[in-house]
Amino acid sequence: MLIPTWLSSAPALGEVLLLIKATNTKRKKLVIGNWKMHGDRQFNATLLSDILTRWNSENQVETVICPPYPYFQQVIELIGASPLVMGAQTISEHDSGAFTGEISGQMLSDWQCRYVIVGHNERRRMQHESDADVALKFLAVQRAGLIPVLCIGESLEQRESGNALEVIGAQLGHVINAAGIAAFENAVVAYEPVWAVGTGKTATPEQAQEVHAFIRSRLGSVSPRILYGGSVKAHNAAQLFQMPDIDGALLGGASLVAEEFVAICNAAN
Ligand code: PGA
Repeated sequence: MLIPTWLSSAPALGEVLLLIKATNTKRKKLVIGNWKMHGDRQFNATLLSDILTRWNSENQVETVICPPYPYFQQVIELIGASPLVMGAQTISEHDSGAFTGEISGQMLSDWQCRYVIVGHNERRRMQHESDADVALKFLAVQRAGLIPVLCIGESLEQRESGNALEVIGAQLGHVINAAGIAAFENAVVAYEPVWAVGTGKTATPEQAQEVHAFIRSRLGSVSPRILYGGSVKAHNAAQLFQMPDIDGALLGGASLVAEEFVAICNAAN
């Protein structure tokens, strides 16, 4: 009997599994430091010089620093040709116009930013950014040719009432509806449980993995990097990074301490 060529060249199950594994491990780890509203010229200079002195030149992890806007020029000069790249903490959903105090995607791109955080829980809570606002910001980042880092995560109350996945699914769903799943080819998702951010309480690797796997399942065949954020420190990073769907970390406090920051980048390598 003649075997059709498509069938004779079809990979066996074992080969398919190997391919899936190879695709998963192909996702390069990413560590993003969000300085929030911290720093001044002297502090930034010392921190970056300490980070670069301690940097392991063999480290392959992609590393991003998100300083406050007034220090962009200083940070660009200090990171120079090092492997560190710059990101922004937020963006306007508009491209230009009379929006006092706002910064557009084009401006961030002119400033050599590569990544932009959208939907951080501090902005959702304190600046009242809704899921719809976050979706518009996600689109604005991509219009400027930059990479959005979409933060999603549940509150303690939502977790304790058993609604964590529902909340996270809805937050993600707003952006999927606005941008389409394919847009996640050029995006990063950060799972940040609100109860873990800045509190010293970290999700266990298993808790985080469950949510990361859920997020990945919602994105079908598109497989962006999914970072965990929320009290990641040098002492808990390695265990988190061992989980199959955790592709790095979004750091707050630990990004302001050179030793911690570099140790976490080393754990991600
Ligand atoms: P944290 O902050 O590491 O200080 O908990 C994380 C974040 O806000 O992204």
